[in-house]
Amino acid sequence: MTGRREPVVAIDGPAGAGKSTVARLLAERLGYTLVPTGAMYRAVALAITRDGVPAREGTELRRYLARLVLAVREGTVLLNGEDVRSEILTEEVARATSYVTTLAAVREKVTPLQRQAAARGGVVLEGRDTGTVVCPDAEIKFFLTASLDARARRRHAELRAQGRDASVEALRDELRARDAQDTTRALAPLRRAPDAIELDTSELPVERVVARMLEVVEARRRAAGHPAGRAARRSRLYGAVRRVAAALMRALFGLEARGVEHVPAEGPVLFVANHASLLDPPAVGGCAPRQLYFLAKEQLFRIPLFGALIRAVNARPVKRGGADPVALRAALRVLEEGGALLIFPEGSRGPEGVLRPPRPGAAMLAVMTGAPVVPVYVRGTGRAWPTGRWLPRPAKVRVTFGPPLRFAAGRRGEERKQAYERASREMMAAIARLRDTVAAHGEARPQLSAAREQS
Ligand code: DC
Repeated sequence: MTGRREPVVAIDGPAGAGKSTVARLLAERLGYTLVPTGAMYRAVALAITRDGVPAREGTELRRYLARLVLAVREGTVLLNGEDVRSEILTEEVARATSYVTTLAAVREKVTPLQRQAAARGGVVLEGRDTGTVVCPDAEIKFFLTASLDARARRRHAELRAQGRDASVEALRDELRARDAQDTTRALAPLRRAPDAIELDTSELPVERVVARMLEVVEARRRAAGHPAGRAARRSRLYGAVRRVAAALMRALFGLEARGVEHVPAEGPVLFVANHASLLDPPAVGGCAPRQLYFLAKEQLFRIPLFGALIRAVNARPVKRGGADPVALRAALRVLEEGGALLIFPEGSRGPEGVLRPPRPGAAMLAVMTGAPVVPVYVRGTGRAWPTGRWLPRPAKVRVTFGPPLRFAAGRRGEERKQAYERASREMMAAIARLRDTVAAHGEARPQLSAAREQS
């Protein structure tokens, strides 16, 4: 590693998805600090209950919280210096916690402590809102899920191990109620960050989940430790602009990502997406777990300030209408230096849901560099902000990443041309498959509640 700080890993998900076990194991294996955010809230609920403080907004509660000393040491919560690890595990505390976490005074006490703990990097945060509210900048985010049945069975086994019994049906009802509570509350509701990697743990043993997470973390660490080339160097402004754009798009269009796990964590990657709207670059950029480079109309770079701004957020100029060897070289350099480049093979914007014949540039880049090509389907931007409209309108936007494709380099003139044509066809076919899958299954999954971001 260079002098960079170690990454922040955020693990969120519903109750019973296995977060606390995998977070503890992951932190142990990585030698990171564990910040169990649920346990912090449980400790606050315990304190409030013990001291008989009314659990309602107001100066009394705020004064009380201001004096409360909450700390995490080696993954264990200390309440005014007392180790409360077993006290916070009772059903009574769990019930009280579920309510106190809806109070702004409580979240305003606890969230900054969690941010402080994460500030130096090398931490695993575990909870409901760690990748969305506490650390929206976390380098690595996971969203753990499991079916209601699997979660109820796990809870049942846990309780049995503690010598307690409850019917699986009753536990299932309880989990369903907690899910509803967690996802619908106004403050920091449980939802998946667009750039989180979703892992369904229903059928996966804990060790497999941890192994998968370790792979992701190690790959990102290696990527961060590489002496960054010019193109692959991370732009600071990009991170800030991306956060704002993603938050806006979540608020206005319910921006959501699928298939983020298909994006290689390091090395060159060419994203090829359909194009229906000006919203496509921020939508894909807001969902991709890596900094992207873009190509943009050359004229835009001539606008004072704006030109400098878009260059600083990784845009590179391209001439419209015809081949542009300068843009091709700039794009090649991004990939050769291990960067991630987003291209819209169709060139210009078209109607929602309609894929048009591609221009040859994207396929040339894929064949010439041999970089993995991640197909991307952006749905909804053509409804939200089609060409010819002055202002956007509300419409759900979803970005789906597909498994990477690879194209071997052709050799002589004729072969190369054929290789380009084949790559073009296969890329567009992969985007079309994503479109058709999204259309067939897209709305079937339950949506977590609307986006909210505090930082
Ligand atoms: O994960 P857990 O069961 O220990 O969480 C206890 C409660 O705290 C649960 O009701 C969800 C809530 N919680 C929260 O609101 N925000 C977090 N970051 C973590 C937990």
